[in-house]
Amino acid sequence: MEQLNYSKTKNDLKGPKGLPLVGNIFDFDMSKIHLLYEQWADEFGSLYNINILGKKITVSTDPETNAYVLKHRPTKFRRLQKMADVIEEVGVNGVFSAEGETWKKHRKVTQKALSNKNIRSFFPTILRISERLTNYWNKIEGIENYAIDQDFEKITVDVTTLLAFGYDLNSLENDVDEIRVHINNIFPKVNSRINSPIPLWKYYKTKSDKEFDNSINYLKDVLGGIIETTQQKMAEDSDLHENPTNFLEAMIASEDKEDPFTNDEIFGNVYTMLLAGEDTTSNSLSWITYLLAANPAIKDKIQHEIDEVLKGEKLSSFQQLNDFPYLSSVIKETLRLKPVSPNLYMQALEDVVVSDVFFPKGSMIITQLSHAQRRDKYFAEASTFAPERWTEREETKGCPYHKNHKPEAMKPFGGGARLCPGMFLSETEMKVFVIALFQDFDVTLDVAPEEVKELFAFTMSPQNLKVNLKKRLLQKEKNVNTESVFQ
Ligand code: HEM
Repeated sequence: MEQLNYSKTKNDLKGPKGLPLVGNIFDFDMSKIHLLYEQWADEFGSLYNINILGKKITVSTDPETNAYVLKHRPTKFRRLQKMADVIEEVGVNGVFSAEGETWKKHRKVTQKALSNKNIRSFFPTILRISERLTNYWNKIEGIENYAIDQDFEKITVDVTTLLAFGYDLNSLENDVDEIRVHINNIFPKVNSRINSPIPLWKYYKTKSDKEFDNSINYLKDVLGGIIETTQQKMAEDSDLHENPTNFLEAMIASEDKEDPFTNDEIFGNVYTMLLAGEDTTSNSLSWITYLLAANPAIKDKIQHEIDEVLKGEKLSSFQQLNDFPYLSSVIKETLRLKPVSPNLYMQALEDVVVSDVFFPKGSMIITQLSHAQRRDKYFAEASTFAPERWTEREETKGCPYHKNHKPEAMKPFGGGARLCPGMFLSETEMKVFVIALFQDFDVTLDVAPEEVKELFAFTMSPQNLKVNLKKRLLQKEKNVNTESVFQ
């Protein structure tokens, strides 16, 4: 057995005092919990304990500790048992909540579905949805005080349903809001249940618990229907078993293999994909929009890059996405300043020493990611939105943001073997939709920047984001006008 050396144990860590017996439970406002974790890290250091009804839970904002924990899965650490239980209780027993060998099996098929190769061949579909989006905005006269986050939610659901089960919801044009409305009920509730010290909902259902059950049942019905239709289609077309065209077909085709997916597993994974792929990407798109609208000089640079590369034409190929280095920096900088998954919940599967601290088997650790990303210790002038910090060093001699720059402290997609498999898809979506928006429209905020707050509900979204969209004159149109003047 491995000899463990350490100079401190988990119990030596400091933390906020809290009340006798109940500990810190009354300190929490669930919708801002990530900010409280950050504030406590400033006060008690990068490793500290919170106390929930006498139980100590460690919060780590230390990038090295977090990297260690994330890397040593599924061997030394797992997702918090309680979180997996809450998620599985509502039927989402797929790759996100699974562990060990079951996780490996789920991960393999998910990773394949979201591979770079698959996303490249899926690119025309993403373009088609982006075209829909600009057509939709173009039809609305004078867009003011507009909740653009809802459109991002719609299109990311459409992308995920097409990729996951080849089903085109076309939420924008059909105004199929119901699925989205029900999806939106899931995360806040899952968040409050994970953080609730006592599973009260098992004994008494409040109105919001009932609404939550209603949403779960609605989504189960819709997805169940889609799975059934696909199973029938595959029974009639054996070719689909050899060459599945989407994630759902690939899982059903596994029936032919040694270790097939059960119906519950198929359902759980499709459901996971729908939930994991929507909020995260749409919130990031909203944050990009917010940060660009609040920083007009950076917005000008993005529009300049778009105009230079596309010359008034529309984005048409996947390769073109490589020609937008400034946009890539804007996306990275948004993920740094506004990470939509700021807290990950972990549990030790064995006695383990991390950063010289001994954690006994079963210890709970919250790997808190947003603190380091937003502190000067790791990023110079960390509270400033400065995409320039991500441009190549040679081009930026004397740039104040390169004085201190530690990208290894940034983990917006998690890390290790469980790194988000949707990273490439989400980056592709973000590029395509940001180009579509800022090529055609000038976007300004209709609220003061400080009125847009961070709202945490398992993922972190901008609350109260309202924008104005004004049609831009595309460079191509500008050229046409110039020519006509001189003819
Ligand atoms: C900006 C967009 C996104 C962000 C910031 C994000 C972030 C994350 C994070 C932090 C995790 C946990 C990783 C860990 O435990 O180490 C995760 C897991 C996951 N994400 Fe994403 N995600 C995004 C988009 C997507 C998309 C578009 C999909 C799929 C359509 C997706 C599917 C998943 C799945 C299936 C997991 C679970 C992986 C596992 O446990 O093995 N994500 N994501």
